[in-house]
Amino acid sequence: MVFKGCKVFSIDLRSDTLTRPSPGMLKAMATAEVGDDAYGEDRYVIELQEFCADYFGKAAALFMPSGTMANQVALRSLTQPGDEVICDASYHINFFESAQSADLGRVTLNPIYTADGILTLDNLANAVHSKARWNDTYASPTLVWVENTVSTHAGKIFPLVTLEALSDWCQEAAMSLFIDGARILNACVGANIQPAKYASAADALTMCFSKGLGAPFGSILMGGKDFIARARRYRKWFGGGLHQSGFMAAAALYAIKNNVEQLMEDHKNAALLAGILRQEPRFSVKEGETNMIVFDVGALNMTASEFVQQAAAENVLLMEWRANEVRAVTSSNVNRELIVQAGHRLVNLAKRLAVGSTRMLENQTKVALLTQAGELNELRTG
Ligand SMILES: Cc1ncc(COP(=O)(O)O)c(C=O)c1O
Repeated sequence: MVFKGCKVFSIDLRSDTLTRPSPGMLKAMATAEVGDDAYGEDRYVIELQEFCADYFGKAAALFMPSGTMANQVALRSLTQPGDEVICDASYHINFFESAQSADLGRVTLNPIYTADGILTLDNLANAVHSKARWNDTYASPTLVWVENTVSTHAGKIFPLVTLEALSDWCQEAAMSLFIDGARILNACVGANIQPAKYASAADALTMCFSKGLGAPFGSILMGGKDFIARARRYRKWFGGGLHQSGFMAAAALYAIKNNVEQLMEDHKNAALLAGILRQEPRFSVKEGETNMIVFDVGALNMTASEFVQQAAAENVLLMEWRANEVRAVTSSNVNRELIVQAGHRLVNLAKRLAVGSTRMLENQTKVALLTQAGELNELRTG
């Protein structure tokens, strides 16, 4: 691992997208008998789509190259150009994909600012009633967009009861509900909820193979048959119609059949890391509920960016999150033993940095006192 000049083994906690295929997954890819998916002849793609549709209790599924393309194809397939989509401001669709949603998805986002990324009935009611819906001037709100888990809120699980209430509300309002479920299996494992239970609250949803499930590529888009037929068309338009994608579908199939249990390990490791970091009072740890934690380093008088550089020098790779907040994500990249090592390296680093900043403060105080004393002397002798 090479990171800003350090060329030694690092414990990489930047993201769960950094995993590499396991030997079993590589074998599944290497031995896949592929066909051309443009002709509907790749049996691994067909098997993956059928497996996922069944797993999530939806009528149909479509293999997509990435979560971003799946989101944009979903927008095009569920809305008319110019429609309004209600989402939380922190969701990937707004935070990272606002330009794509305008340009490719062709919608206008109505981002709601919640404290924790969990949209409520009140949020929806306000978002819709703050508009004169009967007036042709305004964009038509036709879609509610939910993310589960909420990646910018340390992998928070969207509560099923809240989601079901939103779903009922959408039905009454004749609006669709979509789940960006890049990490929905983390929510299922974390809350012990069947995937089909979450999926039944939504008209359509996605799930990524390339996050904690450890595949190198791909997402699945799921929903009704007509929706998937429209999505297949837009996937082609967006350049996502692939040919021998069975090699990747084989990896994805291996991931969903073999790696869901790994997510539970990742959650335990995130909780373990949070526990170790809490031993250091200068870290303010906001434990996530799944495979991410976010902690504040402001008490060390450092920005997140400075702390991330210091941690990298200790061979622990983290992600700068907000001004003073740092994110760590667990995955199959990092086992329990490495988590313990990473936690202790970070705690020791914080202690050293704190001693350093106390010494600096002492020196600054000494200089200030000496200067003051000198000025007094000058006054006395002057
Ligand atoms: C919630 C969520 N949705 C969508 C995406 C986009 O996935 P991809 O990187 O495969 O385009 C991500 C990526 O991290 C994500 O966290």
